[in-house]
Amino acid sequence: MSLTRCWRLWPTADKTVLPCRWLYASLHTSSICKKSHKKLQYSIGNTIEILGKSYETDHLTNTTPAILKKVGTNLHNTPGHPLNHICRRIETYFNSAYVRRGNPRFSVYNRLSPVVTHEQNFDSLLVPANHVSRSPQDSYYINSEYMLRAHTSAHQRDLVRTGLDAFMVIGDVYRRDAIDSTHYPVFHQLEAVQLFSDFELFSDMPNPESMSLFEPGVRDDNKQERHTLQTALLLEQTLKSCLEGLMRALFGQDLQMRWVGAYFPFTHPSWELEIFYQGEWVEMLGCGVMEQKLVDSAGATDKAGWAFGLGLERLAMKLYSIPDIRLFWSTDSGFLTQFKNKNFDEPITYKPVSKHPQCVNDISFWIPESFSSNDFYDLVRSVAGDLVEQVTLIDEFVHPKTGRGSHCYRLVYRHMEKALTQEEVNSIHQQIEASAAEQLDVQIR
Ligand code: PHE
Repeated sequence: MSLTRCWRLWPTADKTVLPCRWLYASLHTSSICKKSHKKLQYSIGNTIEILGKSYETDHLTNTTPAILKKVGTNLHNTPGHPLNHICRRIETYFNSAYVRRGNPRFSVYNRLSPVVTHEQNFDSLLVPANHVSRSPQDSYYINSEYMLRAHTSAHQRDLVRTGLDAFMVIGDVYRRDAIDSTHYPVFHQLEAVQLFSDFELFSDMPNPESMSLFEPGVRDDNKQERHTLQTALLLEQTLKSCLEGLMRALFGQDLQMRWVGAYFPFTHPSWELEIFYQGEWVEMLGCGVMEQKLVDSAGATDKAGWAFGLGLERLAMKLYSIPDIRLFWSTDSGFLTQFKNKNFDEPITYKPVSKHPQCVNDISFWIPESFSSNDFYDLVRSVAGDLVEQVTLIDEFVHPKTGRGSHCYRLVYRHMEKALTQEEVNSIHQQIEASAAEQLDVQIR
C-alpha cells in the first residue's frame, strides 16, 4: 500500500525507492498486535452503524466517530467535484484506448462499500499474517472481522471471481497517518486490473500458437515461476504503455516519466511510476504483474494479468494546483465553485482563496509505554476536525533517570475559510490536552 499513501517513500541503499509500508514488511516481521489494542474511547459504543449496517465493536475497534462521519460522502461520485473530474478523465482515457467490439473494455465499480473483511484487505492479496501493514496503528479496524479498506486492491480477488477480466475500482480508502497538507485519513484510489488469455496476450506476435502463458520455471527479478518470459515481458509492456499513455493524457504529451522498482505482496515484478512535474519527481502510482497465485485463487487459472492503483487526491493536487488535501472536503463555495459547472476535461488551475493566518501551539507530554503517534493524530482530528493543518513531532527524549518518554508536538492551526482568533485556538488546544490526558494516558508537562 504504498502509493497511495504511497507517498511515504523509503529510499533504500541501492537507491531503489520502495513504499515504506511494504518495505518494512520485507525487512522485519513485527508481531501484529497480539496484545489487545487499547480501545480508543472517542465514545464508540458496543455497536457501530456504517452505511445502514450494524457492527459489534471489540478489542480491535479503533475507528473514531470523526472517521465514520466521512464514510458514504461519495466525493468521487459528486458531479463537479475535482475528484469526480479526475475519475471522468481517467475513464475517458480507458474508454477510448480500450474498446472491445465497440464497447468500453473496462467496467467501472465506484460504489463498493469501503467496509471489507481483514481477509479481503490482506489475505486475499497474499499479505503475510505478520505483515506490518496489518498493525492497528496503520489501519482502521471496525472489529476482529471487518475494517475500512486500506486500499482498493481489497476488491481485486472478488471481482476477478465474478468473471471480469478488465475492471476499475474507484473509492474511498482509510489509513491512520500523519497530519499535514498531503495526508488525510480518508483519501481515494483508482485501481485497475486487466487479465489476458494466451490468445489475447499473444495475438500480435508472429507465431501465437507456439506461445504459452505458463511453464514450470523459476522466479527471478523479472518474472514469476509460473510465467514464461514472454508472458512477463508482454504484461510489463502493456501495463507500462497503458500508464504512460494515461499520464500523458492527463499532464500533456511532453511529460517526463521514470519507472522505479517496487515491492507489493500481490504483484511481481512491481513498479512505481514517477512524473517530473513543476521541478520535482513525484510518485504517482504502484503497479505490477498480478501474483498468479491470486489470479488462480479467483478461478481465472487460464489467464495472467496486471494491476495498478493510484491515489486520486495526489493526482488532483498536482493537476489542479490544490495546495492542501483538506480542501477536497471543504464545503466552502470558494473552493467548490472553481470546479463546479466546468467540463471535466477543461484545464483548471485552482486559485487559492486568501490564506488565513496560522496559529502555532505546542503540546508536550510524558507518554505511556503503549503510546503511538497515530493515536494522538486521530485524537487531534476528532477534537479539532479540519482546523489543524499540520502536526509535527518536534522533540522526543527519554528521561535518563525514570526511563519515561516525552513527546513534544507542534500543532499548526488554520481554518480554510475564516481567520481563527487566539481564544478559539486556545480553547481547542486545551480540549486536545484534556482529551489526550484522559484518553491516551499521557501526562501533560
Ligand atoms: N494497493 C497498492 C497501494 O495502495 C497499489 C497497487 C495496486 C499496487 C495494484 C500494485 C497493484 O499502494
